[in-house]
Amino acid sequence: MTVNPFKPTAGAVPPLLVGRDALLAEVDEGIQSGPGHPARITIFTGARGTGKTVMLTESGDRAMAHGWLVIDESASPGMLARIGEAVDRLLEGVNPRARRRVTGVSIGGIGGVDTELTPQLAEGVRHRIGRLLDTLEKDGTGLLITVDEVQARSDDLRELALITQHLVRENREFAIVMAGLPSAVSDLLRSDAQGRVLTFLRRADKHVLADVATDEVHDALVATVTANGRTIATDAARAAAEATHGYPFLIQLVGFHVWRAAPDGAISLADVATGVEAARERLGTLVTDTALADLSPRDLEMLRAMAVDDGPSRMVDLGTRTGMSRQNADTYRRRLLDAGVIEQVARGHVDFALPYLREHLRSR
Ligand SMILES: Nc1ncnc2c1ncn2[C@@H]1O[C@H](COP(=O)(O)OP(=O)(O)O)[C@@H](O)[C@H]1O
Ligand SMILES: [Mg+2]
Repeated sequence: MTVNPFKPTAGAVPPLLVGRDALLAEVDEGIQSGPGHPARITIFTGARGTGKTVMLTESGDRAMAHGWLVIDESASPGMLARIGEAVDRLLEGVNPRARRRVTGVSIGGIGGVDTELTPQLAEGVRHRIGRLLDTLEKDGTGLLITVDEVQARSDDLRELALITQHLVRENREFAIVMAGLPSAVSDLLRSDAQGRVLTFLRRADKHVLADVATDEVHDALVATVTANGRTIATDAARAAAEATHGYPFLIQLVGFHVWRAAPDGAISLADVATGVEAARERLGTLVTDTALADLSPRDLEMLRAMAVDDGPSRMVDLGTRTGMSRQNADTYRRRLLDAGVIEQVARGHVDFALPYLREHLRSR
């Protein structure tokens, strides 16, 4: 039995990254172009399964290809302390020829290690990053920090933003790439109450990870299948690509289950039908249910009203169906947009942003 090359797992780097070359080229350019390049502060946002975590990993790989060091983090409590730890480890082992990547997961948790956020801690971390950069810059390299799961209300993230602002002002060889759900990122960028510190984040390069073109999906599916010793019929490849709707997680889910459905070397249209069915089921439990669990009853009411339509819905119709006032309907429209569950397709028209969500809602 040949190993299934597809990777339908959160955060797993896919066999072929579809449709993200231009974005990664920008990150790459930011690393190479020196301090002040806008891409040195980058934020990726998108719904679940659009490939945010993978983009952080790929950004880190680009940085390491230029000899940079990379720290991968997640915006949970204790992040700044963990970054400090990671910087220390890098300081100990700095070797210009060793491309390194660390995650600051070693402290916190049990044992009461002090991860409390204090001004001294932030000051210390800033100082230690500065020392690391002193060494790295002599070798013509720098430091990239990636932050996954951005939270609007993270004090650690706010401190890191402040540190970043200082490093940028000092023209250091430093870059930060962040990723989060649209709601978290827009809350973060909107949070005036948290002071001027974050205003510079609003000027960050912000990219929404949209669906990718199904033509590119088609080519990637065919390339992955053939590179792994199997073949796929022309109509089968077309059908499989269409079934992904260009949604990154589905590319892997469809690829994985179609591969499994074909018992021998050649993948047929019938295998695709079987595989797509299995992929859709997995999508329901892995992504759709999780996305819906975050929503309020009123949010869901709005979505159910949308599911009545076969295509994009008119806001006026949604108002009528739910009995919400125009203003109320607008509030829920914005909430669902921020959650990455719906998208605005034209003035006054919205549609589902996650594939098969309509069918999912109808089946309940
Ligand atoms: N551009 C892409 N092309 C193909 N597969 C992708 C792409 N981006 C992500 N994937 C796959 O989609 C799934 C979800 O990616 P992940 O980075 O975990 O998304 P997110 O962090 O946005 O929830 C993984 O299985 C990953 O391999
Ligand atoms: Mg992720």
